[in-house]
Amino acid sequence: MRIHRYGDPGVIQADDVPRPEPGPGDALVKVAATSFNPSDLGVRRGLLPTDLPFTLGGDVAGTAEGERVIGRIVAASADYVSAPAQDLVPAPATIPLAHAAAIPIAGLTAWQAVFEHAKAGPGMRLLINGAGGGVGGFAVQLAKYAGAHVTATASARSAATVRAQGADEIVDHTREPLPQGFDAVLNLVHVEPPAIDELLGLGPVVVSITVPFGIHFVARNDTRQLSELVALIDAGAVTVDIAGVRPLTELADVHRAAEAGRLRGKTVLVP
Ligand SMILES: NC(=O)c1ccc[n+]([C@@H]2O[C@H](COP(=O)([O-])OP(=O)(O)OC[C@H]3O[C@@H](n4cnc5c(N)ncnc54)[C@H](OP(=O)(O)O)[C@@H]3O)[C@@H](O)[C@H]2O)c1
Repeated sequence: MRIHRYGDPGVIQADDVPRPEPGPGDALVKVAATSFNPSDLGVRRGLLPTDLPFTLGGDVAGTAEGERVIGRIVAASADYVSAPAQDLVPAPATIPLAHAAAIPIAGLTAWQAVFEHAKAGPGMRLLINGAGGGVGGFAVQLAKYAGAHVTATASARSAATVRAQGADEIVDHTREPLPQGFDAVLNLVHVEPPAIDELLGLGPVVVSITVPFGIHFVARNDTRQLSELVALIDAGAVTVDIAGVRPLTELADVHRAAEAGRLRGKTVLVP
C-alpha cells in the first residue's frame, strides 16, 4: 500500500511491485501484519516529508527464514518487506503472530515514556492521559508492572479495557475534570492551551509524546527494549490488546476512521 503524492486517504493505493531483494545485512520478511500508527497520517499528508512513492507501515510481524519476528521498520504494508536483520527480534510465542504487529512503535514509545522519562517506580502516583490509545494500553501495563499507582483517562468505549490493563482509577475525559496531585503525568494525546497549562500543573514531571511541552521525546528504535517487552508479554505480565484486525487493502478506510476519531487501541492490518 503506497502513496505517490500527499493528500487525503484517497492517495493510498495498492500497487503491484516486485518482491524486494534484501541487501547485505537485510532479511526478507513475509509479512503477517503491520499496524496503524497516527504518525502514518502525518506522512500521508506530507507533514513528515519522505521520498515518493512511499510504502506505509512502520511496524511488522512476520516470518524471516522460518523465524517469527517483529520490528520497527519501514514499508511493512506489503506482502514482503526487506528490513535490516538487526532491527528484527523474535516475536512473542504466546500470541497470534499478526497481533504482534501492534507491539513495536506503540510498545517502544510506552516503554521509553514510562521507564526512561517518567521513571515510574513503586508507589509513584502517575496520570496517563490518553490511556485508550495504542501507546496508552502498553503504558498503563508497564507503569503497573513498575509498581506505580495509575490514574488513566479513558472514555466509555475504552474504560473496560484500560481497567483490565490494570489502571487503578479511570477518569472519563469526555465528562470529568482531571484530578490533581500526581508525581508524574504522561500525556499521550494532542492538546492545546489551556489544557497544556493544566497538565503542566498536575505534577512535577510531565512527559508529552505529542505536542512539545514538559519533557517531550520522539521514541527511538531499541531492539533490547523490544525484546524485554516481548519477554514480559510471554511471561503474561503484559497483554497485547487488539481493537481491530483489518485487511491491508482497507488501509485508506482505517486512515479515515482514525481522522474521524473512530479508532481506539491498536488496529492491525493483514495482507
Ligand atoms: N513521540 C513519539 O515518539 C510518538 C510515538 C507514538 C505515537 N506518538 C503520538 O502519540 C499520540 C498517541 O498515539 P497512539 O498510537 O496511542 O494514538 P491513538 O491510538 O490514535 O490514540 C487514540 C486514543 O486517544 C484517546 N483520546 C483522544 N482524545 C483524548 C482526550 N482529549 N483525552 C484523553 N484521551 C483521548 C482516545 O481514547 P478513548 O478511546 O478513551 O476515547 C483514543 O482511544 C499520537 O498523537 C501519536 O502521533 C508519538
